[in-house]
Amino acid sequence: MTGRLIVVSNRIPSETGGAGGLIVALHDALSATGGLWIGAEADPVETPGESLRVLSSQPYSRLGYQLSHQEIEHFYLGYSNSVLWPLCHRRPDLVDLKPAYEESYRAVNRRVARMIAAIARPEDTIWVHDYHFFPLAAELRALRLQNRIGFFLHIPFPSLGDLSVLSQPADFAEWLGHYNLVGLQTLSDVARALEMFRADPRAEFLMDGTVKFRDRITSVRSFPIGIDVEQFQKDAAAQDEQPLGKEAPESYFIGVDRLDYSKGLPNRFRAFGRYLENRPPDQRPCLVQIAPPSRERVQAYHDITRELEEIAGHLNGTFAELDWTPLRYIHRSVPRHRLARLFRGARGCLVTSYADGMNLVAKEYVAAQDPDDPGVLILSRLAGAAEELSAALLINPYDIDDIAGAIRQAVSMPLAERQRRHAACLKAVMANDATGWARSFVSVLSQVPGTLVWPG
Ligand code: G6P
Repeated sequence: MTGRLIVVSNRIPSETGGAGGLIVALHDALSATGGLWIGAEADPVETPGESLRVLSSQPYSRLGYQLSHQEIEHFYLGYSNSVLWPLCHRRPDLVDLKPAYEESYRAVNRRVARMIAAIARPEDTIWVHDYHFFPLAAELRALRLQNRIGFFLHIPFPSLGDLSVLSQPADFAEWLGHYNLVGLQTLSDVARALEMFRADPRAEFLMDGTVKFRDRITSVRSFPIGIDVEQFQKDAAAQDEQPLGKEAPESYFIGVDRLDYSKGLPNRFRAFGRYLENRPPDQRPCLVQIAPPSRERVQAYHDITRELEEIAGHLNGTFAELDWTPLRYIHRSVPRHRLARLFRGARGCLVTSYADGMNLVAKEYVAAQDPDDPGVLILSRLAGAAEELSAALLINPYDIDDIAGAIRQAVSMPLAERQRRHAACLKAVMANDATGWARSFVSVLSQVPGTLVWPG
């Protein structure tokens, strides 16, 4: 193998790695190829530099680009998270179109492209991640880079209708048309991406299903992302302290989400309340909801935080008893090994997203279960994970009665049915783990002219 793998994402793993699926998967590939991971430095600066800085070099190089305070506002919180995020999550009503956001987004992409061009060798393969960098390949091509460049979108692909709220919707197809490979989470995402290209007079569909955009050929394929199943199973089965302490409820449901309006948390709380209204008196389960804050300076995130506090207060006010608090709402993050233990102890897990690229919590919950006595995954049919985990209890996240019914069903589900559903879900989770995901993306990308092959 001659070329290196260069990974680009706005968030970069910490020096100790961290245990996210994406990080684990790419860690191996980068370590073996002597690759590079490029991402934003943690702290904003007054005037960002023009070259990448080495943050660490073992077991692979982590290189950082700097962002100014204004770019955090305009590029990260602005265009990335107040335009593209709501757009991709089917909330065009929340899109905040400010010309300064778009200018900054284009400028950061242009600068990062210049920095990459300064270090990339012709035989390197570049793998760009997520919505912060849609235009990166276009900017790299403008600098005459002919490398193989792949893109993976971790979040849902927007619909053609939603794309039309952008100031220049046609740029979106143009941006993607500069990648050799566009990877998406699900088949529905692929269908939406192809619909976009089909509607664009500059795009031509070739016999093999690839898209010719101007003079370049792009493949659009689904690569459902996975988790490090073995590690998660190990963490879940560890015999350390009980994660909920001495006050652990006898039976609980779990929810773990970044505090984001796309996760359907208000309806999840309301549905739990609906279930409590009609529960048999001997059933007193809790809902343990872990929701670390996220992007707090964006108004929509501020609003959802307030809304949830109100619903949570109301729920406990209505249903709590002297010796029982039905909702434990924890507004901060919990280390992953403790999460694994929490998942294993939970009677069920609630994933109620209105839109979600994949939702790895669903896969982690499945991996963490004891196969002899597994809990029940209640999963939104609008989360990407529903395509693979069709044996979960699939719900409509807009329908509170449907979610409440699923909670009721999970509480009384016979062991044999729990085992059957869990076995089918676990098979799907194992079929596509984190390493397999990275390996198949890089292997498809390497089939476009070039030399990179997967290590080993
Ligand atoms: C999603 C996105 C990632 C992002 C993460 C956390 O999973 O796909 O690109 O890094 O959310 O969001 P944050 O804004 O904190 O990076």
